[in-house]
Amino acid sequence: MTRSPSQPDLGMKEKVAVVTAGGRGIGRAAARLLSRWGATVLVADRDGEAGRAVRDEILAGGGAAEAHTVDACDETAVAGLFAALARRFGRIDILVNAVGGGKPAALDEIGGAEWDRMFAFNVKSAFFCAREAARHMPADGRIVNVASLAGVTSSVLQGAHYSSAKAAVIGLTRHLARELGPRGITVNAIAPGTTLTERIRAQMTPEKHQALVERIPLRRLATPEDQAGVIVFLASSLSAYVTGVTIDVSGGYLLA
Ligand SMILES: NC(=O)c1ccc[n+]([C@@H]2O[C@H](COP(=O)([O-])OP(=O)(O)OC[C@H]3O[C@@H](n4cnc5c(N)ncnc54)[C@H](O)[C@@H]3O)[C@@H](O)[C@H]2O)c1
Repeated sequence: MTRSPSQPDLGMKEKVAVVTAGGRGIGRAAARLLSRWGATVLVADRDGEAGRAVRDEILAGGGAAEAHTVDACDETAVAGLFAALARRFGRIDILVNAVGGGKPAALDEIGGAEWDRMFAFNVKSAFFCAREAARHMPADGRIVNVASLAGVTSSVLQGAHYSSAKAAVIGLTRHLARELGPRGITVNAIAPGTTLTERIRAQMTPEKHQALVERIPLRRLATPEDQAGVIVFLASSLSAYVTGVTIDVSGGYLLA
């Protein structure tokens, strides 16, 4: 996508955006699109190599980016990273919390440790990053959480621990919106339907694909770019008066 200087920039130029899980999948698509709209993108991923690959791609395309290796479930490491980024850039304007993921599991297969791990991966990571980013956010700060349709309805692919954790992400989004609203910071979420990232492609069979597509009014699964478009909207000046909402990005799955 190329833009002429006369086109609006969505308020994204000069913005400093942290994207967790920015090394792959939905986070990577969000990092790329934020960069195309002019943001400086700080890719924060546990997999340093994946994060550096996205950074290099953005730099090669003329954008501004850095890669930072962090485990978003590690409270101390998250606090250290955001403090270091704030010292370096003066502020964090945008946070995209994309860390998370699910696992297929029947009820009897989910023990307490697995339940806790799922909540740490999907909810605690988002909480830690939001709390630390908010310390350094200006009045027009933006937090976008990546929840899941599983947290809005339920999941045909993943276990009860994942659906519950993503419902918690939606609850966290609402609470943060209320608490940070008076400071001018908006907090919203997207609820993706099944999205063809490399991870999901590897799990997909033609039969599963067909069964899912038949339930989706738009008759296709989402791409990471479908999700990134809505993330960028929620991170931009276009959504300045929207907070506490979760946008379903599922091709109309809930209408079925
Ligand atoms: N792909 C889907 O179908 C789908 C659907 C609904 C919701 N989601 C949600 O979207 C988000 C991204 O999913 P995806 O499929 O794009 O992911 P992915 O598995 O393709 O990529 C995940 C990235 O996160 C990084 N990561 C993993 N744990 C981390 C940690 N603790 N700290 C920092 N980085 C970490 C990995 O290194 C990897 O680069 C997740 O929250 C997921 O639950 C995905």
